[in-house]
Amino acid sequence: MTAETTPTGTTSTNGTNGTNGDGGGGVSPGRAALDALLEAGRERGYKLDWMLARDTLGEQVLEMDAQHGGLLLQDLEPGLEPPEHSDNLTGRPRGANIRPSAPRVGNYSIRTKSDIWLKNAAQLYEEAVQRQWSSAVDIPWSTIEELPDDIERAECQLTTFLTEVEFVAGDVPGKWIAETTPDYFEPRMFLISQIMDEARHMDVFRKRTFANGGGLLMQTPARVAGVEIDSARDFTEMSARLHIAGEGVVLSLFRMGELMSYNDAEKSIYRLAASDESRHVAFGVMHLQYLRQTDPGRSEEIHNYLDDIELGFSQGIGVQNPAAPGMPASDAVTILLGGGSDAASLAEGSKIALAVRQRQVKEYMQRIRVAGFGDRFENGRANPGLLELVNA
Ligand SMILES: [Fe+2]
Ligand SMILES: [Fe+2]
Repeated sequence: MTAETTPTGTTSTNGTNGTNGDGGGGVSPGRAALDALLEAGRERGYKLDWMLARDTLGEQVLEMDAQHGGLLLQDLEPGLEPPEHSDNLTGRPRGANIRPSAPRVGNYSIRTKSDIWLKNAAQLYEEAVQRQWSSAVDIPWSTIEELPDDIERAECQLTTFLTEVEFVAGDVPGKWIAETTPDYFEPRMFLISQIMDEARHMDVFRKRTFANGGGLLMQTPARVAGVEIDSARDFTEMSARLHIAGEGVVLSLFRMGELMSYNDAEKSIYRLAASDESRHVAFGVMHLQYLRQTDPGRSEEIHNYLDDIELGFSQGIGVQNPAAPGMPASDAVTILLGGGSDAASLAEGSKIALAVRQRQVKEYMQRIRVAGFGDRFENGRANPGLLELVNA
């Protein structure tokens, strides 16, 4: 509805009739049209009182700013800040009028803002929507040519692993969406966009597995498939384990994807997937930062999660990490980085894999600093294995 055709008077909210709030005391064409509509509704048995319940209906027309991305979710919200604690159990959209008869549809466990909030969830969601891509047409599949058997086998082992972990990365955040009050819809929508991203990552790595005549190889050991992430009972713990630790190391690896690519198709896969992963990691870092700033009483608990995460890192920087030693996928990464499975290539591949792990640790430390927990790297709390790896 536009301002021209809708009522503006605050008198509308209490059901009185007469002025339209324009100061003139007359009945505007918009108010007359509304009255006619209400009358028509009454005659036909429709209750249209809800149309009177807003005193600003049609007054604030939002303007699109094409230069800044059009009409964005974050443009809608002034004056409708999410509550610090939500008692909304009925699925009511934030800002909507309460219907007392509404049934309870969710006993949401996340109803405290600091448990899930971050400052830029709407922006991250909009970015996700704008940057969707298609594995069918945005990857130059025709650039893949025949590769030596050991390289192709390594590629298939790595993509088998990545298909598996991408499933976890979609599955785990999925269960938290229905646990979150609709009052915090921005992080919910971001998590929905993440699931779409992870579905695409699953499909693109699966396609690469088969694209050159190969196929799926060995499943990874059970622990790898996100057991700790999936068993987290708290959203922030899950987010630290998934967004910051698990996806962080994958993002660092994808950013070095050129080093293990043999054609433009593989380069494109890593570049596009890294672009998505950087949003997922940003979500985790920004949420942890918000929690640190608004609920510092949970700091020790968070440090405790980080202790556990770093213990995994120190044993080769993480079980979800294809560059960690001792896994089928890490042997594959070594072969791909070194350019073959002969001794000289494996030695070279091992050297580059160490550089990858060092970058993973450095970027993890930087993310934890941004989140506000960097004191652990100065006061001796951080796992010494991390610093040893950086300085190796
Ligand atoms: Fe992913
Ligand atoms: Fe991800």
